[in-house]
Amino acid sequence: MSKKVFIKTFGCQMNEYDSNRIYESVSKIGYEKTEKFEDANCYIVNTCHIRDKAKEKVYHEIGRVKKNFKSKKKPVVIVAGCVAQAENKEMIKREPYIDIVIGPQSYHKINDSILNYTKNKEKEEQTDFDTMSKFNYFDKIRNNNSKVSAFLTIQEGCDKFCKFCVVPYTRGPEYSRPFNVILEEAKQLIDNGSREITLLGQNVNAYCYKEKKKSFKLSDLIMALENIPKLKRIRYTTSHPIDMTEDLIKCYESSKKLVPFIHLPVQSGSNKVLKLMNRKHTVEHYLSVFEKLKKANSKIEFSSDFIVAYPGETDEDFNSTIELVKKINFINSYSFIFSPRPGTPASHLKLIDNNIAKERLKLIQNELFKHQNKKNKIMENKIVDVLVENKIKNQNKYFGRTEYMTAVIFDGENNIEGKIVPVLITSSNQNNLFGEIKLKKRIKAA
Ligand code: SAM
Ligand code: SF4
Ligand code: F3S
Repeated sequence: MSKKVFIKTFGCQMNEYDSNRIYESVSKIGYEKTEKFEDANCYIVNTCHIRDKAKEKVYHEIGRVKKNFKSKKKPVVIVAGCVAQAENKEMIKREPYIDIVIGPQSYHKINDSILNYTKNKEKEEQTDFDTMSKFNYFDKIRNNNSKVSAFLTIQEGCDKFCKFCVVPYTRGPEYSRPFNVILEEAKQLIDNGSREITLLGQNVNAYCYKEKKKSFKLSDLIMALENIPKLKRIRYTTSHPIDMTEDLIKCYESSKKLVPFIHLPVQSGSNKVLKLMNRKHTVEHYLSVFEKLKKANSKIEFSSDFIVAYPGETDEDFNSTIELVKKINFINSYSFIFSPRPGTPASHLKLIDNNIAKERLKLIQNELFKHQNKKNKIMENKIVDVLVENKIKNQNKYFGRTEYMTAVIFDGENNIEGKIVPVLITSSNQNNLFGEIKLKKRIKAA
């Protein structure tokens, strides 16, 4: 009987990509993926440390596993991801039920750690920043992901050191994967059936790979992917405003597959707060990037991340953020109350009163959601192109996304997964569009 592995994934898309690669790695030592955590012989929690009680969430999760396996054989319990990196040895000390702690740049060691543990019952903590060895290891394992929309990590780590952020400490310094290796992996994904690829990186537009006096940038990757016939859409995330270079902006004129939608976190609309955060860009710079992109392609829409109640943010600063939100009309954005992260420079700063923070979050979300609702409402009675991702379980409905990432649930027809189909939108809410497929023949007849 084969052994089973279950991974619970928290956090960003990079963790999702990593979890898939971990599944492929451990399959080489006989572990088969299971969707039921109760069946696991190896239980992995891939963690995120970006906000709030991340650490406590992990211990809570381990507690749940412990309870479930009380009267059964204990699985090998692994904590991976950014909490593992930040907490390392402390985790095994605090919760002896944990067997292996492994940080994001040590996943090439996961098979050996599991084998060592199962053979010798030796607990291990692996938290070196050995990004190159990790990718060299994974490059030899085929990426078998066959999702219509697949993630592909091209860059890891961050050298920007925004004062609030743990990422430079949990993912380490910036590293860009070799250009040809990325293209090879993209081809594997497309051969498996993927039709949309999202290029990932903590600072994806800082991607820069140098080989034989030539340097390859994100724009080179986009234009190379453009030439792969079966690929229909290209996305990338998350980008930093300071790395939105002219060559990348130009891709919005020359690429037909790059979607006209960009997630470009601004964090605040106040220059004073941006400086306090060490963001390295101003509001004016952000607006100039916005203008250039709109000029390159007027269909481009923006989404962003916002942090409210950063230490030192006054009502006036916050109002500047609201002004920026109104000016740009962001869609599909994220907003958070500042959360002090252990080990970051901002963790010692005086917090803004929690009621004020909550009020600011409510106000910014009202503004963001107001526009999002309006934007979705406008789509009603219109036909949009939807890349079909999957059939919804036990229903005769399909799920897909517009170019702008908006989720669409619609009545479809057989065998449309992986295709871009026209959908007539009949209703909407804040996050979704609902409709029915309209095949071209019928549209013409109507
Ligand atoms: N690299 C991206 C950038 O520079 O915009 C962001 C990566 S981070 C994983 C995603 C978002 O989490 C950030 O854009 C920020 O809004 C939010 N975030 C990070 N640290 C935070 C903190 N300490 N408190 C609240 N939100 C935080
Ligand atoms: Fe974090 Fe700033 Fe780096 Fe983004 S750019 S990952 S917010 S330190
Ligand atoms: Fe979280 Fe680490 Fe991603 S802290 S957001 S899982 S890079």
